[in-house]
Amino acid sequence: MLSGRRILLGVTGGIAAYKSAYLARRLVEAGAEVQVVMTEAADRFVGRQTFAAITGRPVATELFDGGSVSPHTDLAAWAELIVVAPATTNLLGNLANGLATDLLTNTLLAARSGVLLAPAMHTEMWEHPATQRNVERLRGDGHEMVGPESGELAGGDAGPGRMSEPEAILAAVERLLGDA
Ligand SMILES: Cc1cc2nc3c(=O)[nH]c(=O)nc-3n(C[C@H](O)[C@H](O)[C@H](O)COP(=O)(O)O)c2cc1C
Repeated sequence: MLSGRRILLGVTGGIAAYKSAYLARRLVEAGAEVQVVMTEAADRFVGRQTFAAITGRPVATELFDGGSVSPHTDLAAWAELIVVAPATTNLLGNLANGLATDLLTNTLLAARSGVLLAPAMHTEMWEHPATQRNVERLRGDGHEMVGPESGELAGGDAGPGRMSEPEAILAAVERLLGDA
């Protein structure tokens, strides 16, 4: 169980964002407090109201003018663990290179907590040398990874790049927080 554990769930702009709503639900069921931070692109895939209703907390999206003086440092200090699911090619590239371009990447770079990344993308993007380089660098920086798996992808394709299922991500969260 994750009773009272504070988990920040970052959601980026991939098709697998729909699975993150179920992940949020499973984390809440396990007793965690879940704060969702969505990128602008993620908001195009799943409405923020869905995550707000599941977690009981408004979704954070804005670095500026969002009601908090310093949202990224507040969120980073609050989180015991940051889970990014799905983690896009773009998110991996930004984080690997220390680029703080929006609320989520600023929060990740301001964090001292553990970070668990669940990459999701088409096989070509996953296997691109730039992505693999970024993944190596992120592992070297101490970030944890779950997946991606090989399987069916959006648009009828198949191969490596499919986001791990919410249950597998939940198991990784429990392991990292010492609750498994
Ligand atoms: C229909 C559609 C599906 C997409 N799926 C993915 C995906 O699964 N993984 C990925 O890395 N990018 C995907 N993209 C591209 C990202 O949305 C795009 O790179 C975006 O800039 C990511 O922004 P973010 O990382 O700030 O969320 C998709 C784009 C479209 C239009």
